[in-house]
Amino acid sequence: MVYIVYMEMKKGAVFKNRKVIDVVCVTGILLLAFLLLSGDMRTTSSAKIAFADEFAGAYSELSERNGTIREVDIIADESVIEIFEGHLTAVWAYNGTIPGPEIRIQKGDTLRIHFTNNLSQESTLHFHGIRVPNTMDGVPDITQKPVQVGDSFVYTFTPKDAGTFWFHPHKNTSEQLERGLYGTIIVEDEHTGRYSQDAVWVVDDWLLEETYQINPHFVTQHDLTHDGRWGNVITVNGSIEEILSVYPGERIRLRLINVSNGRVYSLHFGGLPAYGIAVDGMYVKEVFDADGFVLAPGNRIDVDITVPKDADGRSFAIQDRFTRYVNTLGSIVVAGEEKETPQFSYPTNPKIPDWSDAIHASVDAEYLLDARQTAAGDIEWMMNGRVFTEGNSIMLRHGEFNKIRFINKSFRLHPMHLHGQFFKVISRNGQPVNEHYFRDTVLVGSEETVDIGLVPLDRGTWMNHCHTTEHADASMMTSVIVQ
Ligand code: C2O
Ligand code: CU
Repeated sequence: MVYIVYMEMKKGAVFKNRKVIDVVCVTGILLLAFLLLSGDMRTTSSAKIAFADEFAGAYSELSERNGTIREVDIIADESVIEIFEGHLTAVWAYNGTIPGPEIRIQKGDTLRIHFTNNLSQESTLHFHGIRVPNTMDGVPDITQKPVQVGDSFVYTFTPKDAGTFWFHPHKNTSEQLERGLYGTIIVEDEHTGRYSQDAVWVVDDWLLEETYQINPHFVTQHDLTHDGRWGNVITVNGSIEEILSVYPGERIRLRLINVSNGRVYSLHFGGLPAYGIAVDGMYVKEVFDADGFVLAPGNRIDVDITVPKDADGRSFAIQDRFTRYVNTLGSIVVAGEEKETPQFSYPTNPKIPDWSDAIHASVDAEYLLDARQTAAGDIEWMMNGRVFTEGNSIMLRHGEFNKIRFINKSFRLHPMHLHGQFFKVISRNGQPVNEHYFRDTVLVGSEETVDIGLVPLDRGTWMNHCHTTEHADASMMTSVIVQ
């Protein structure tokens, strides 16, 4: 309709009679005003109100501060690590190590992170999955000025959720993340101490040259026309042979985080019983068999593993089988005296909404995911036909149920990540999806359409982007404004 009005107005230019032009224009303006107003007055359907009600209490809107302040220094700088014995690899790292610091706090603690940028380029810290105040979200030129070379910035927030989170730069991410800038934030709660062990596995892949140095060609045409940069070396916690040593009978909480630029993993636990208790930091409603779980860039999964009592002397290879080539990520090695298995029920969140009827709800926002080639031959990834600088942010109303649709027009994979909110996958290609958990990142497959539902609780301007960092840096990014 708007289009027709616009055409009428254009035609007006050839009308001889000035009055006709005026009438057409006035009618057009009135029509436009009507359309805008009626859009604004659109009433939320009763089904959507019911979905929002069902969501109430699934996670808290406010942080519950306990008064403890935890001060942490994080310095981004050049460093060297030894991935392969006898060979040093030059990296960029937080506090000199790969991964960077594992920051463990209690839910309710306030973090005060003193970040210093000693890199040779601008940077920021983004706290992936943590619902922080918008000004602490680390998005350059949107939520803060980039942190200049040699400068510092203090990030202060009180995480609202207990779980597995991570942090990384949000500036030139394809290079900065690939060179090793990532660390973890584990927000503990009453369930954490009940496990025999609580371990974090940070999974990364690297594209190394024969010299053991990081291939310095970032965001290549190849990366852009494929699923980002996939490397030739996979590490867990910086090691190509990560080992978790356990005793028979122990109950382990293993937290896996995919910090790779583009690589996707499909997890296999070598026959160990591994139950998913949390996804993307948040507890699930019902635990599930984690074998085959797809861990896309940005994703986390926490698994609950009880080591069989008769497993003394055995070793279990934890593998990735996403492609035809099987990768061993690391091993769980069982040795020693049998331990008492801690008995407690799985930590779950019974309040996660079901939303199975949301498959019938109308779509509030839609994103077409596709690429284009510029006159200069560069590949640009777009959301709704626009690159980031061309802008296409949408508004979402606080506290209301919203359904968002991602339509992948391309053959590539896009792990879509929304800052500041958690969502539930409603359907894939129109078929209902039965995930009993929230996510902050969902992998959208080749030519796939994925619908998600969410009730935004955190106000501000939040990025919505592909977590394949090459795609994101080639503009596959937009924003969502929650008012
Ligand atoms: Cu993991 Cu926009 O980030
Ligand atoms: Cu992508």
